[in-house]
Formats: sequence, structure tokens, C-alpha cells
Amino acid sequence: MPTETQRNEIFDNEGVPYWVFVDKDEKFVQLTVTTAHRNLPVGLARYWIRSPEEIELDDIYIFDETFKPEPLWLAIVRWVFCCPQCPQNYQRKGIGTSLLEFIIQHTKKGGASYITGFIASEKTDTGVLVRWYEGLGFEVDTSYNLPRLRLNLKK
Ligand SMILES: CC(C)(COP(=O)(O)OP(=O)(O)OC[C@H]1O[C@@H](n2cnc3c(N)ncnc32)[C@H](O)[C@@H]1OP(=O)(O)O)[C@@H](O)C(=O)NCCC(=O)NCCS
Repeated sequence: MPTETQRNEIFDNEGVPYWVFVDKDEKFVQLTVTTAHRNLPVGLARYWIRSPEEIELDDIYIFDETFKPEPLWLAIVRWVFCCPQCPQNYQRKGIGTSLLEFIIQHTKKGGASYITGFIASEKTDTGVLVRWYEGLGFEVDTSYNLPRLRLNLKK
């Protein structure tokens, strides 16, 4: 089945718009978040369509070390003056929350009954993630080594 791409808009906490490009085939969906201005990638999410009822989250990531494209002259000036480019951190602006809310609405509209997944992160504290998912309505079972997630979309 050919991949189908859609473009949608989400916003951060300050109302700044971002694009979410959704690439979808029969079993797998990849979402890429970019700035609305110049399409700079700032995050991604992936999920599996396990059955018509079940969506399984694979990953969600908002970048904390990305670099803005710059004109050549600026790169040369920085090189001459040994001045490194500062990485941009897009976390903690509300983009991850908007993206997960988008996935919830998108999968609900598609007719899914629940979203599953688990928490595994090298960078963000597990307790923080448990509270984050719970705040978005997920049940989190922490009796597993990697806490399991489940959101009932029919409630
Ligand atoms: C988890 C993640 C996707 C959240 O996206 P985000 O855009 O940074 O999160 P938001 O700005 O929407 O944060 C919402 C709330 O979650 C909590 N939170 C998120 N990241 C946090 C962090 N690193 N430390 C403390 N609290 C955090 C805060 O309560 C935050 O609200 P606040 O900033 O108003 O206090 C992002 O931090 C990330 O990519 N982390 C690394 C990858 C990862 O852990 N993915 C999840 C795998 S299960």
C-alpha cells in the first residue's frame, strides 16, 4: 500500500504554530513535527496499528539539541571566530503535549478503541513521564520494569 502524507497544525504553549506531517501506511504511522516557518524538524512520534482497535505507541521525541539552518556567510564568520552554534532546545514548550493530544484525537477519529505502549527513556525521568501520561488520561501500570501505558479511547 502506498504511503499517504497529511499535514496538520499544532501549537506550543505560547500559540506558536508547528506542522505535523503524518506519513501512514497500513501498519505504521510516522509523525514529524517541524516549525511552520522553514520546516525545521523539532520532533517526531511513531506508532503501530496493531489492529483496528489497538494503536501501540513506539516513540515520541521533542528535540533538545537541534540546529537552525543558517546562511553560509554566518557559518564562515562563526568558523573564523571559533564561535560554535548554540543548539536549540524545543522541549518544555508544550509541543510534546500538543503532539500526543493530536495522536489521541487522530486515532480516535480513525476508530481505534485504545492506545498502548510503554515508558522507556534515557533522557527524561520515568516519574516525570508517568505523571505526564497520566495527565493526558493514560493508565500507567508501574509494576513492570518498563511501565505500561493504556488509554481507553471509548470512555
Ligand atoms: C517527554 C517529551 C516528549 C515531552 O515533550 P515536551 O514538549 O518537552 O513536553 P511539554 O512541554 O509538553 O511538557 C509538559 C509537562 O511535562 C512535564 N515535563 C516534560 N518534560 C520534562 C522534563 N524533562 N523534566 C521535568 N518535567 C517535564 C512538565 O510538567 C511539563 O510541563 P511544564 O513545562 O509546564 O512544567 C520530551 O521531553 C522528550 O522528547 N523527552 C525525551 C524522549 C522521551 O522521554 N520520550 C518519551 C518516551 S516514553
